[in-house]
Amino acid sequence: MASYEPKIVGFLCNWCTYAGADLAGTSRMQYPPNMRPIRVMCSSAVDSVYILRALLEGADGVFIGGCHPGDCHYVSGNYKARRRMVLFNSVMKSLGLDTDRVWLRWISAAEGRKFADTITEMTGHLSKKGPSAFKEKWEV
Ligand code: FES
Repeated sequence: MASYEPKIVGFLCNWCTYAGADLAGTSRMQYPPNMRPIRVMCSSAVDSVYILRALLEGADGVFIGGCHPGDCHYVSGNYKARRRMVLFNSVMKSLGLDTDRVWLRWISAAEGRKFADTITEMTGHLSKKGPSAFKEKWEV
C-alpha cells in the first residue's frame, strides 16, 4: 500500500495567520509540508462552498486561520466565520460526514510557534484518521 500523506488546503487571513505562517517560516520553525496555503483577506471570506470544493477535489482536511476575536481588521469578520463554521458542521453532521477534518483556529501574526504546532497537530490527526472518503462518497 502506498504511504498516505494528508493533503490540507489552508485558507489564511492576510493580516494574522498568513503573517504567523510567514513568521514560522522566517524563524525556521519545522512543521510538516502538507498544507497548501491560500491567502484570503479575512476568515469571513472563506465561503462554505470553498470548503466543500476543496474536500470534493480530494483534500483530506481544510484549515482556516483567522485573527483572534476582537482583532479582525474588518471588525466582526471572524465572528461571522465562527458562526458559519457552526452551521457548516451541523450540515456535515446531518449528512453523516466528519466534522473534524475542517479546523478553524485563531492565530496572530506574532504566533509563528502556534501556527507551526497547529499544522503539525492537524497533520498528525489526519494521518491517524486516514484518507478522506468525501470525494468518493459525493462524486457524481
Ligand atoms: Fe483576519 Fe478578519 S481580518 S479574520
